[in-house]
Amino acid sequence: MIIEPRTRGFICITSHPKGCERSVLNQINYIKSKGKIEGPKKVLVIGASTGFGLASRITSAFGSNASTIGVFFEKPPAEGKTASSGWYNTAAFETEAHKEGIYAKSINGDAFSNEVKQQTIDLIKKDLGQIDMVVYSLASPVRTHPTTGMRHKSTLKPIGGSYTNKTVDFHTGEVKEITIEPSAGDDIENTVTVMGGEDWEMWIDALKKENLLSSDFKTVAYSYIGPKLTEAVYRKGTIGKAKDHLEKTAFTITDSLKDINGKAYVSVNKALVTQSSSAIPVIPLYISLLYKVMKESGVHEGCIEQIHRLYSERLFINDTPLDSKGRIRIDDWEMRDDIQEKVAALWKEATTESLPTLGDLEGYNTEFFNLFGFKYDEVDYSLESEEVIDIPGLQ
Ligand code: NAD
Ligand code: NA
Repeated sequence: MIIEPRTRGFICITSHPKGCERSVLNQINYIKSKGKIEGPKKVLVIGASTGFGLASRITSAFGSNASTIGVFFEKPPAEGKTASSGWYNTAAFETEAHKEGIYAKSINGDAFSNEVKQQTIDLIKKDLGQIDMVVYSLASPVRTHPTTGMRHKSTLKPIGGSYTNKTVDFHTGEVKEITIEPSAGDDIENTVTVMGGEDWEMWIDALKKENLLSSDFKTVAYSYIGPKLTEAVYRKGTIGKAKDHLEKTAFTITDSLKDINGKAYVSVNKALVTQSSSAIPVIPLYISLLYKVMKESGVHEGCIEQIHRLYSERLFINDTPLDSKGRIRIDDWEMRDDIQEKVAALWKEATTESLPTLGDLEGYNTEFFNLFGFKYDEVDYSLESEEVIDIPGLQ
């Protein structure tokens, strides 16, 4: 069929297999151009199909020749209906990995469930024996708790009072004020339950119990801090409470891994256009200004550049540098004073009329559609494309 982008709200409900393949090949080529990393050899990536998780899987496989198992939650294709982009990304990734003799298998299902954990355990036992790294990169709006069966929803709300600021609808370019009402009831608890560290810890506990973690095992989960501008809705909002919990959980997990000299890290990453960040109010305006400033300063990075730096300059060197709270920082360039001062100044001036020149609205828009395999110059979108594509190593 001929596949075109169709948007609903801030998301795109179609995706293009050729464009997703392009995106994956670009990331693989980037990693190959950087040479070998003395990194992990057998890796489980939870949230492996898009964003930072996909970049981690690609960096593991093509940077240090690692066998990878990927876990994700994606919509399979059907006749006349495209899959979600993470499905096509994974199909392209596995095809390339297998061509080079690199082991890659995947599990599509709810990572929060006991069933998917058990399925993953069985696959590791059968194929890999032990693993030396787990990347935890889930971003989900909901979690069904495996013991209580309760379904929790995460929210993106300020705490204590309503918050008013500018935002942009990046589809229309309209800059306007929005007011977000503060959290109420169980919003904080629910958000911590979905996006905090409990599930990460459950994964590591379950794997350790089965003796599937090798000595010197490492695990990393991803967090975000960001500037004052977005603090009320991000770091000091409901999602920030979940990130506080995730960051604390790293220490609990490290304690539980003492006997195998294992270590759990949180890496604070840069703000990037992903399916998750597009859904957060105010953040798209911030990102479009940030991109402009970082590109002009020559320090812009996407997911793959970020994760390459995480592996080669943080995780797999002798003394992993940490901040005063024990976290890895690869948001260091985003948070540089000169970058933040420029963004803050532009923020004041940004209007519907001025944003296209003040900010990188076009870059934002292109990257957003790239997430779904659209707007790649190398792809001819007028051609018919097969929509039903298999993931070769899907279990
Ligand atoms: P993303 O939406 O691109 O990726 C989310 C992944 O989780 C996908 O692979 C998806 O399939 C998987 N997933 C979601 N629900 C699942 C479920 N129930 N079971 C199995 N898999 C499931 O998101 P992302 O932006 O790459 O975010 C990953 C992590 O990085 C998050 O913790 C996020 O907070 C963090 N982070 C993001 C940014 C940013 O700007 N995007 C910045 C810093 C940190
Ligand atoms: Na991810």
